[in-house]
Amino acid sequence: MAPISLCDGSSSSSDANNPLTSTPTQSLLPLVEQIRQAVMQEESADRNPNAHFQLLGLIDDLKRAVESPTETLLRLIYQPPQNAALRTVMDMGIFPLLMEHSKGLSASELAEHTGAERALIVRLMRLMASLGLCMNPTPEFYRANAKTAALTQPIGRDGIPCIYDLTLATLTKLPAYFHEHAYTTPKEYSTSPMNYAVGMGQFEWLAAHKPRQTRFNSYMASRRQGKPEWFEIYPVERLTTSTTTTSPLKQTPEAVFIVDVGGNQGHDLLKFQERYPPDQIPGRRVLQDLPKVVKWDVGRGIEAMGCSFLEEQMVKGARIYYFRAIFHDWPDSTCQTILSRTVAAMEPGYSRVLIMDMVLPDTNVPLLQASLDIQMMSIGAGVERSERQWRALLGQAGLEVTGIWNRHPGMESVIEATRVA
Ligand SMILES: C[S@@+](CC[C@H](N)C(=O)[O-])C[C@H]1O[C@@H](n2cnc3c(N)ncnc32)[C@H](O)[C@@H]1O
Repeated sequence: MAPISLCDGSSSSSDANNPLTSTPTQSLLPLVEQIRQAVMQEESADRNPNAHFQLLGLIDDLKRAVESPTETLLRLIYQPPQNAALRTVMDMGIFPLLMEHSKGLSASELAEHTGAERALIVRLMRLMASLGLCMNPTPEFYRANAKTAALTQPIGRDGIPCIYDLTLATLTKLPAYFHEHAYTTPKEYSTSPMNYAVGMGQFEWLAAHKPRQTRFNSYMASRRQGKPEWFEIYPVERLTTSTTTTSPLKQTPEAVFIVDVGGNQGHDLLKFQERYPPDQIPGRRVLQDLPKVVKWDVGRGIEAMGCSFLEEQMVKGARIYYFRAIFHDWPDSTCQTILSRTVAAMEPGYSRVLIMDMVLPDTNVPLLQASLDIQMMSIGAGVERSERQWRALLGQAGLEVTGIWNRHPGMESVIEATRVA
């Protein structure tokens, strides 16, 4: 009797006609050709962030085109255990161990190092290897790869537990929240899904435990590694040269060049200070955040202020009020409060608002941006906004958008706005 093959790759004629399991009938070759060309660019001296982003999009298109509908659904259905297993492996400290032992470690050795049961390690690590987070060259043996290394750096080490712990309890209750709220978006921070699920919003939850806040701060500082800074996207000479619409930059010792509002521990200001020290662009540099969050001794001549952007802006007439990843945390009503405090402090014809945040396209929003929008809505009634939404929000606050710059379609844009009167 011939041996039974469990996976012989053939499909019956009934499978081919089943819309749930059939793969596309149109040729995939034009898509593969596009990918081939994009790969050639990726490997050439012409490599750039846009081409890289496009290549990733084409690979996603190909995967979706090849997957049958059933395969797509199964991939989505089993996403939650992947995140939970990864969070557990992070707690067990397995990735740093793999980095320390460059030749690799067996499941038994990992059990010895961690005190965990070997059988559990085998089950968790087979998923980690399937996700591409380490290598599994022989049975029950694991070796680090480049993704393992990233998991031991602040972006992975702090980002994964930070966002998992911050979000998961809320996401579990998200469907119930919307059911109870007649399927309407939250309009206030105090009535966000996170408030419904855990009784507080993201910033109170972070402030309640120092280790959470420390992880969050570390993740904030590390999450844009390798991506352009605002001053590499935005033409800084707009602030340093006078034009018909802007008065010259003030040179007096008390003049403030930039206030980084909600600047966390000052990572953006430090990079700006390094690129444009005060002998190149004069003016004080001020870091503002909540008193428990702000880094008081940020150094390099940066002045720290512990304050709330919901209260009066105490620094008047600065050249720039810079907000990075601030407005996406909040619903329109709170954004209007923050903007009104800022507009009141701005000097007409001199001060500008610079916002670094996502500007969503009207169609084909990248997966990361669409996911972030749901994340922000969940933990604080926040919103990722389209250009139309930004113009409406800023216009309502008495600001006119005077430019939007972007160098990377998957990343934040820089929006410049001035006071209308
Ligand atoms: C998403 S983080 C962005 C941090 C930083 N701008 C960046 O892009 O890395 C939001 C920041 O807003 C700060 N924040 C929240 N509420 C605030 C308030 N009422 N006043 C000032 N800062 C606040 C948080 O502490 C946090 O550092």
